[in-house]
Amino acid sequence: MNPIQPLSHKRPLPLETFYYGSTYYPEHWQPEDMENDISLMQAAGFNMVRMAEFAWHLFEPEEGRFDFSWLDPHIEKLGKAGISTFMCTPTATPPRWLTAKHPEMLREDVVGDVMCHGSRQHASHFSDIFREYSRKITRVLAEHYADNPYVVGWQTDNEFHCHFAEDHSPAVQSGFREFLKLKFDGDIEKLNKDWGADFWAMTYQNFDQIETPRNMHPTHLNPAHVLDYQRCLSWGVTRFQKDQLDILREVNSKWWLTHNGCFASLDFHGEFTEDLDFLGFDSYPFFEQNISQRWLTHAFNLDYVRGFSGNFIIPEQQSGPGGQTDYFHNTPEPGEMRRMAYSSIAHGADSLLFFRWRTCRFGAEEYWCGLLDHDNIPKRRLAEAGQLGAELKKVGPALMGSSVEISVAVAGSDYDSNAGHQALHLGLPGPRQASEVVHMHLNHKGHSVGIVHPDDDLSGIDVYIIPHFPLFKPEWIPRIKEWVEQGGTLIVGARAGCKDVNNNVISEPLPGCFADLTGTWVQECGKQNLPNTRPLEIIMQGQKVVTETWYEELVAEDAEVIATWNSRFLKGLPAITCRNLGNGKVLHVGTWFTNEVVDLLEAYLPVTNRFPENVEIVDRVHPDGSRLRFVINHNDEVVKVNFAEEAIDLLSGETVFGSKELEPNDVLILK
Ligand code: GAL
Repeated sequence: MNPIQPLSHKRPLPLETFYYGSTYYPEHWQPEDMENDISLMQAAGFNMVRMAEFAWHLFEPEEGRFDFSWLDPHIEKLGKAGISTFMCTPTATPPRWLTAKHPEMLREDVVGDVMCHGSRQHASHFSDIFREYSRKITRVLAEHYADNPYVVGWQTDNEFHCHFAEDHSPAVQSGFREFLKLKFDGDIEKLNKDWGADFWAMTYQNFDQIETPRNMHPTHLNPAHVLDYQRCLSWGVTRFQKDQLDILREVNSKWWLTHNGCFASLDFHGEFTEDLDFLGFDSYPFFEQNISQRWLTHAFNLDYVRGFSGNFIIPEQQSGPGGQTDYFHNTPEPGEMRRMAYSSIAHGADSLLFFRWRTCRFGAEEYWCGLLDHDNIPKRRLAEAGQLGAELKKVGPALMGSSVEISVAVAGSDYDSNAGHQALHLGLPGPRQASEVVHMHLNHKGHSVGIVHPDDDLSGIDVYIIPHFPLFKPEWIPRIKEWVEQGGTLIVGARAGCKDVNNNVISEPLPGCFADLTGTWVQECGKQNLPNTRPLEIIMQGQKVVTETWYEELVAEDAEVIATWNSRFLKGLPAITCRNLGNGKVLHVGTWFTNEVVDLLEAYLPVTNRFPENVEIVDRVHPDGSRLRFVINHNDEVVKVNFAEEAIDLLSGETVFGSKELEPNDVLILK
């Protein structure tokens, strides 16, 4: 493994091998079902399977009695066939004997219902008892596999918080108090002040009086209390994970360690991820039902994850329709599964496993389809995985060490701003949703766009857009300012910076900590409910756009007014301003970003690629400047593309130059 670099959207993966394969559950099958698995996996080009994330009950059928005989022969046979094992700590599904013995370790939801055995993720990460058992099983597994040459890496647990995040169990009540004591250094007066506790008699005399906030029990909550609870949930899971990571590292420092996410109430741009070697992201693009939006939503999700910490692996990539009681996805049409996998790789995945090898015939996920159907007959989805496997043997090594290049960045991947917003959101879309709208529209228009956290490295980026981040930390400003002075264009949207780190409203006029950059202040602002009933229009060089969601009347103290309001009481007042700062510019956009508002700013954005609509271009660049360009046709039709520069397509080996037709689902990787 290469040295680990600090978290950044540009961080490459430290692995040297591109791993390819699927999740595999030998515990669900009879020997006759599994007879040909290894040869089929070899034929599909696999070099990895992930196993055992839900198998604690098999490893430890009764307390203290361990059994590895159900798994070890598989690890060995697979290993001898060139397929490594990616192991998991099985703590998402504690065995029944454990929860029966210690029901006090179960999670509790907001209404006080205690979770029960029968699905998963029912044990509290804050429970000392559960933590002790988690450490025990992790150590037993780690020591058992310490010298196994085929076990190369580990996943902690499985998708922390994927079903729900809140926990109000007694363990969390004391965990919350512990977290707050640490945060406030034992100073209850400081907590009372930072939480604005005089409102509705929330003042505490000591930490032991504090409880977790339960929304609408009976009514609205204090947003400062809620944000610290959300921070605490993340802290608790980070600590739970760290217990396991310390043991795994102590037992075999050569293993790489990851987690598959990324879900709510967990800060992936911080300690949780710093403790790992890299992040994993489980990618399920078919949750997006709208076919024309699917590739855009997929790209946004991938970029959002890259915004946390850089390149990642995909421990689970969707390989078939997925279904639960209330939904069943479209089946990927021929070529779609491979295309979506290539999108994942283009956007920063440096290893990819499909979920799952074979569709299970029982259990809660009997309709979550894998590469093989229930009948176990190899069909087109497995053949398609085989095509991808053969291709990745060629291109996988060429990708390692590269990162994704972007010219426009949208702010995102920040935990506090999202959690803070959710605590008292005024019916407004949150920072993540706001970033998604801008990212998807720019991507659709052909910009090389990504998501970048406000504390990250902006070098190489031409334009940085901060849509609507209510909670924006002033400490992020100096670095952004420096980047602007060196020539960057910063575009700040409405409501940015209106909250402080405690999630209280700031005392200065808006845009708060941005004012020094924008040279403006907000005289008046308001929500646009039912915007069509009293439309508010902006006019910019004759171009008119009706706005939605929010308006701001700007005062341009040290900035040029480049667009004005054009209706009702706002007519003629500043709506968008631009200030020259050093070699760069700062725009203040006094409304919510919609596609039309983004279009209005065209002159301030870089020139887009000139490829046809829905043909995605993503460049992956190595530190030496060498470049691999992904060209992906997301259209259902053939499109003609003009390639101005000669290049070799690594997938077909052909030289590409001039006009070329791309079939639906076609992918080129140009060098
Ligand atoms: C993931 C999870 C898997 C499986 C899959 C399909 O979120 O990690 O265990 O549940 O989704 O639902």
